[in-house]
Amino acid sequence: FGLLAYDPAFKNTANVRSDVTFIDGDAGILRYRGYPIEQLADNSSFLEVAYLLINGELPTQDQLDGWVYEITHHTFIHENIKQFMDGFHHDAHPMGMLVSTVGALSTFYPEAKDIGDADNRHKQIVRLIAKFPTLASFAYRHSVGMRYAYPDNDLSFAGNFLNMMWKTTELKYEPDPVLERAMDVLLILHADHEQNCSTTTMRTIGSSDADPYSAAAGATSALYGPKHGGANEAVLTMLEEIGSVDQIPDYVKAAKEGKFRLMGFGHRVYKNYDPRAKVIRQLAHEVFEVTGKNALLDIAVELEKIALEDEYFVQRKLYPNVDFYSGIIYQAMGFPTSMFPVLFAMGRIPGWLAHWQENLLDSEQAIVRPRQLYVGEGERDYVQVTDR
Ligand code: CMC
Repeated sequence: FGLLAYDPAFKNTANVRSDVTFIDGDAGILRYRGYPIEQLADNSSFLEVAYLLINGELPTQDQLDGWVYEITHHTFIHENIKQFMDGFHHDAHPMGMLVSTVGALSTFYPEAKDIGDADNRHKQIVRLIAKFPTLASFAYRHSVGMRYAYPDNDLSFAGNFLNMMWKTTELKYEPDPVLERAMDVLLILHADHEQNCSTTTMRTIGSSDADPYSAAAGATSALYGPKHGGANEAVLTMLEEIGSVDQIPDYVKAAKEGKFRLMGFGHRVYKNYDPRAKVIRQLAHEVFEVTGKNALLDIAVELEKIALEDEYFVQRKLYPNVDFYSGIIYQAMGFPTSMFPVLFAMGRIPGWLAHWQENLLDSEQAIVRPRQLYVGEGERDYVQVTDR
């Protein structure tokens, strides 16, 4: 096989140089452009973080105002996209609708193919970040048979999304400030995570110079897979299955015997507490102050306590990950589980775009084309079908 390195799933291969996000899994560190995730979650906003990821620096007040204005004024989608949405089966999965409509946007903005032009790239980046929540909420409303709610430019990014999700009357929608902030923080926590499966997909599709809508549709598809975007749903199912705090010891025992895994525990990269899980844990308590307590939270807190003290989990460095608490928060806020990966995608779009752009501007990069180790037959002669 010559000098080819065989590395299934790229577990040991770095194929990019990136200055977007830093992770130290052993120390439990996550930084966007050098800024610790905890500081961003405490002080920043999702749109400011999006600016940071894409441009590399925090914006000045003027830059931030301009950026927020631009995003806010690109939230509407073409009415034909709405009709496209109408065409889906009544019980279509919102993530399937999101994948298709994001891809369809490329036909509305054919100029997006000119990816070499910086102004043009900027315009498509703005459009994608701005339109994702609109597509996401329209997909949800279609799936439950509700009339679409159009964007409201007077609201914040998160407030507008909550409005498009839950608005039921002609009256002005007023998001609860705690839930609005919680939504924004959840988007910040999901905004990037270096070379994960969907980001790698975005870079790979982008490496052929495809337009960013087509690349984002591919990245969204990668996130649709249960191994990537579906873990928080699995956590909810697990907590419901456990049912009550007194069942936890038996459940943990069975997990230790290898009968199943504790969902929301362990991570390929983090061998310490996932820093995002710490922020989310605090957020969960704030959200439940508003929405009322969910019995699943008690089970989650106790399960975490028992597992963190258990030899099996300590030895294997299995700590709660970002998905452990996010599902229960989303559920408390009223989102159905089918929307969980959609919310993930909405948060991750700035990260995808930052990596897409970084890849395009990197002179060392080329169209992604891995090699393989061929293990099939040697040359053999064709046999006529009558002789087989
Ligand atoms: N519960 C019980 N045992 C576990 C778990 C778990 N959640 N995770 C790993 N182990 C054990 C595993 O059985 C193995 O034990 P042994 O050495 O005795 O064979 C050991 O820990 C190492 O496991 P691994 O599969 O080699 O570890 P990995 O780093 O390849 O897996 C993981 C990472 C996330 C796939 C895994 O921890 C897991 O399946 N967790 C549950 C699912 C989950 O929460 N997924 C969400 C991940 S975060 C998503 C994101 O960041 O986007």
